[in-house]
Amino acid sequence: MSRDLTFALAKGRLAMKTLDLFDKIGIHCEEMRDKNTRKLIFANEEYGFKFFLAKASDVPTYVEYGAADIGVVGRDTILEEGRNIFEVMDLGFGKCRMCVCGPESARELLKKNEIIRVASKYPNIAREYFLGKKNQTVDIIKLNGSVELAPIVDLSEVIVDIVETGSTLKENGLTVLEEICPLSARVVVNQVSLKMEQERIRKLLDDLKSVIE
Ligand code: PRP
Repeated sequence: MSRDLTFALAKGRLAMKTLDLFDKIGIHCEEMRDKNTRKLIFANEEYGFKFFLAKASDVPTYVEYGAADIGVVGRDTILEEGRNIFEVMDLGFGKCRMCVCGPESARELLKKNEIIRVASKYPNIAREYFLGKKNQTVDIIKLNGSVELAPIVDLSEVIVDIVETGSTLKENGLTVLEEICPLSARVVVNQVSLKMEQERIRKLLDDLKSVIE
């Protein structure tokens, strides 16, 4: 009997869409959809799978250490966490963009190579973009949510944040100034698991590939 494969799913919208996808390939975990449950880990004994939900930023950690063999998480989190894991598949949902945003008046500041303040939930992505790619020294201010507030209350000149529909920006008088990269949900795999459980993981990835457009 082979060992269970353990999946870590990022809590929230991505997890529900992942469960829909797994349903399509015949792997069901109904219990996990129950919003009222306080249970943290669920088993599908028929397939030898275990699933757990974790805070998105912790998913790469569980996968790097092998506490989960496979994870499903946004590319934003993968880039920000910089863990030693294999990103093996784009699931094609949760599509959005990582952008530099701010009031239109900040556009000029980005051209000048001045020290500006950048607020973000993603300090590593922001640092890599400004220092690594643009060679611009900036002050990075870490926030944990509602980042759009920062330029409005003059905490920063610009923000680095996710833009999906763009309505949060619009409703707050902000705009996309520069695009950093496209994002979507990705499958990540532990490096040892990918070798030791190659056949089962390959089969699973092939099945997933056949149901995503
Ligand atoms: C995300 C992101 C933006 C918003 C973008 O925030 O940080 O604020 O969604 O979506 P939109 O372009 O469709 O308006 P989230 O809802 O995760 O909340 P938070 O900012 O408080 O973390």
